[in-house]
This record gives sequence, C-alpha cells and structure tokens, in this order.
Amino acid sequence: MKLATLEPKAHLFVCANRRAEGDPLGSGCAERGEAVYGALKREVAARGRVRDTWVARTQCLGLCPQRGCAVAVSPAGRYLLEVEPGDAPAILDALAPSSAAR
Ligand code: FES
Repeated sequence: MKLATLEPKAHLFVCANRRAEGDPLGSGCAERGEAVYGALKREVAARGRVRDTWVARTQCLGLCPQRGCAVAVSPAGRYLLEVEPGDAPAILDALAPSSAAR
C-alpha cells in the first residue's frame, strides 16, 4: 500500500444504491441518486472544477432518505439528505474555496 499522489480538494459520494423490489428497506436512492450524480458531474464540469472536485457513485450510506438521495462530502465529513438534482449548484457553492479551489 502507498499514499496516492493525486487527490481532490473535495470528493462527493452520491448514493445510487438499488435494492430489489419489495425489499423492506425500500428501493434505495437508485434513480434519484443517478439523477443527482449526473447533475453534480455537469455542474462540476460547467465550473471547470473537474481536477479538484470529484463526484462518485456509491452504495448505501446508511441514511436512506425517502426523497432524493444521500450525499457524503469529504473531507468536510458532512452528509446531505433529500438531495435533488436542482441542489447541485448550491452544493458546489457551499464547498469552501479552501476545500475546492478553482
Ligand atoms: S440507499 Fe441511499 S443512503 Fe441508503
């Protein structure tokens, strides 16, 4: 194991977990998470921040909102719930300049 030589200033982990129909825990963020993932990727690209702000799909974050999806923000250590695609600009705005320099 070795340390990575490249790392982002901010890394957004978007839950797009899918559960089987009828799962007692619900369907998961699934399509809602895919939509948020796409919106965040487009917003990052539009702002020219692809080198320092990374967006990744992930599995269940253990928070399972009924609406939207869950997003983990690293290194801030924050979790966002009920995230919708239209929230992408605000999420990028909220990343402190020091944690996501342009
Ligand atoms: S299914 Fe998305 S947080 Fe659990």
